[in-house]
Amino acid sequence: MRCQVAIIGGGPSGLLLSQLLHRAGIDTVVLERQSRDYVLSRIRAGVLEWGSVEMLREAGVGARMDAEGYPHDGVYLACRNEGFRIDFKDLVGKQVMVYGQTEVTRDLYEARDRMDGKVIHNVEGVQIHGADSDAPYVTYTRDGTEHRLDCDWVAGCDGFHGVSRQTIPASVLKEFERVYPFGWLGILSETPPVDDELIYAQHERGFALCSMRNARLSRYYVQVAQDDKVENWSDDAFWDELRRRIPEDAAERLVTGPSIEKSIAPLRSYVAEPMRWGRLFLVGDAAHIVPPTGAKGLNLAVSDVHYLYHALVQAYEGDEHGVAHYSEQALARVWKSERFSWSMTGLLHRFPDRGAFEARMQEAELDYLQHSRAAQTSLAENYVGLPY
Ligand code: FAD
Ligand code: PHB
Repeated sequence: MRCQVAIIGGGPSGLLLSQLLHRAGIDTVVLERQSRDYVLSRIRAGVLEWGSVEMLREAGVGARMDAEGYPHDGVYLACRNEGFRIDFKDLVGKQVMVYGQTEVTRDLYEARDRMDGKVIHNVEGVQIHGADSDAPYVTYTRDGTEHRLDCDWVAGCDGFHGVSRQTIPASVLKEFERVYPFGWLGILSETPPVDDELIYAQHERGFALCSMRNARLSRYYVQVAQDDKVENWSDDAFWDELRRRIPEDAAERLVTGPSIEKSIAPLRSYVAEPMRWGRLFLVGDAAHIVPPTGAKGLNLAVSDVHYLYHALVQAYEGDEHGVAHYSEQALARVWKSERFSWSMTGLLHRFPDRGAFEARMQEAELDYLQHSRAAQTSLAENYVGLPY
């Protein structure tokens, strides 16, 4: 088999890249290790920057998002059970869109089906060959049969545990990492959200976040120890802990119910450089991870796709400048989102290894943020998303 761009991974970045390239007349094959149902059952991000919203519209997958998503003008931050609001609309004239990653992925799969896009599921043993040559190819196994896919370029959209990054020789790849000494326990429940905007709460017992998917579906998180287990948390224990950490008026309003999903995500900051090796590109979580505090993971995947899509279209028009500079261009934005996610994480979590001085620094920073329009503007500018 042959195609122009072989895409490894059928998560949001692989599907979006394939959809955009197909519309530009460039043919792709997406190789995904899991089944479609499995990919669609993963509960992940919930907030889209406006740049991501516009990219999804450009890809022709914005209709359901525009009809069912919720534009938000601000968020609440809370400190010791008292909240204050960051008004994005007033501070930077922009909004974000609450629309779950699961829905984005579903819309992308449906759009790929409508265009007869090639997405091959349940592939095993993907290997990338000749990425540093002019004739790269990918091999994989499906239903016990070996396959070979020849291509011009390979897009590694296969997440943090994928094969693409591992294909780049250790002598070339530089890795930067910070693992945080805690995780997020998240639940999804068929209850109305406690507020019509998100609440990020700092508390001496640990961070909490009140988020949502729609008017009847809520997503809540509490900070837990790194080695904590989901089995240690009954639904009642979760709700009690959440109530303790959020503003009192929100705790009183909170409607609880059985969880329909419950999981723990570890928190990590990670960047791999470079994001291109020969004819192989790294895109999204394959190249970088952010802690979820700034809601940046999915949005960064979308901005990588933006740069790569334009670079590849340009390359097929005979100009490889964009391809040559993809890594540099993408990384400049990646590092700024890494910084924001790291600083939001530092501002809002309880760090077991920090002393009384750092605790006061954190309080002072939140106090500054509450009362300074300049500080709020900086947070708002980053949260709604830096320009591409
Ligand atoms: P992925 O979504 O990881 O997709 C990669 C795809 O590649 C997967 O479908 C995988 O099955 C496939 N794949 C992997 N290896 C191979 C292989 N060898 N061959 C073929 N296919 C392969 N972000 C937020 O902003 N907010 C959140 O609340 C949030 N929660 C998260 C919770 C978890 C548990 C995780 C892991 C991430 C979370 N994120 C969150 C981050 C966000 O979901 C990711 O940034 C986003 O999914 C990145 O998209 P991607 O397409 O680059 O990678
Ligand atoms: C979510 O709704 O899952 C969500 C929202 C904002 C974040 C992280 C996760 O910062």
